[in-house]
Amino acid sequence: MPEKQLLQINVDLNCDYKCERCEKFFECRDEMKWKIYGRRRMARAARTMAKIKKKVAIGGGKGGSGKSTMTANLATALAMMGKKVSVLDQDFDGSTIPKLFGTMGKKLKIGERGLVPVEGLLGIQMISLGSIQKEDEVITMFHEMRRGTTEEFLAHVDYGERDYLLVDLPPGTSSDACNLMQYIPDLHGTVIVTVPSQVSQIAARKASLLSLRADVRVLGIIENMSGYICGKCGNHFDVMQTGGGERLAHELEVPFLGRVPLHPQLSAASDAGVPFVYKYPDNLGSKAVMEIARKLDTFLDEIIEKESK
Ligand SMILES: Nc1ncnc2c1ncn2[C@@H]1O[C@H](COP(=O)(O)OP(=O)(O)OP(=O)(O)O)[C@@H](O)[C@H]1O
Ligand code: SF4
Ligand SMILES: [Mg+2]
Repeated sequence: MPEKQLLQINVDLNCDYKCERCEKFFECRDEMKWKIYGRRRMARAARTMAKIKKKVAIGGGKGGSGKSTMTANLATALAMMGKKVSVLDQDFDGSTIPKLFGTMGKKLKIGERGLVPVEGLLGIQMISLGSIQKEDEVITMFHEMRRGTTEEFLAHVDYGERDYLLVDLPPGTSSDACNLMQYIPDLHGTVIVTVPSQVSQIAARKASLLSLRADVRVLGIIENMSGYICGKCGNHFDVMQTGGGERLAHELEVPFLGRVPLHPQLSAASDAGVPFVYKYPDNLGSKAVMEIARKLDTFLDEIIEKESK
């Protein structure tokens, strides 16, 4: 693994103890930071999150590599395994979770204990700006508003007791990804999605490094669109050089979770608002995602058991 490029700060003469908006949050080693964290508004998010057993963010660098598709399908695969799953759409500028689950018509409501998530297939809960905004509405969000929305979606939602929270991150290493990692200090890890091309891996590598910098383990890398399977003849074509995801995992010394092929049925299912693992369980891509979900679940059980000792 490349050396963690951590800038360790023990004493900062310019520190004003406004940790919530401090750029040095992840690097800071001042003991006061966690005391302040425990007292202020972040603490409420931590309390809500404590009721969810396993919390995983799905990210990657490049736009369009399949992060949201993987989030929706991993959530469905876990729900098919009998888990109670919630999905948080942290992509404020490009919310697609309601579309992927076919819940575009349903809106978030406010209940006695906060926002009530929209419920979809297999009881999967969803929290998304897309379930608040009108379809053609464009909101320009500036920094504090982004942080406030992250806080709202973590602290003031009535998730209840759940097995999983999967978070769909936006592309890149933006403040929304950082805010998320700051607000869920016990995030169990990130799953990084890349397509096989080297261009995508550069960004996926950065997303992995951001996670490590925030002290969040990378649970593994998925290579999506790993070869094309023809919808008619079923033949496999290596359109982008496959293997890049596995190489990246090897370089970063993190697990390689598996390959998901590019297949017309998979995007058709997404467009139809039904996750492909559910709609086409026999598709090779669905089988790959089911296998990844099982691996993740076992891996997380091991992590939680180790941490409880
Ligand atoms: N394995 C696959 N086979 C076929 N189509 C796929 C596959 N994975 C993703 N897609 C399609 O690729 C498109 C982009 O996927 P998706 O929206 O999940 O990417 P993203 O990484 O979340 O993008 P963004 O960075 O914009 O949020 C979608 O139309 C989706 O249906
Ligand atoms: S995180 Fe908090 S304690 Fe650390 S430097 Fe920033 S403001 Fe100061
Ligand atoms: Mg997306």
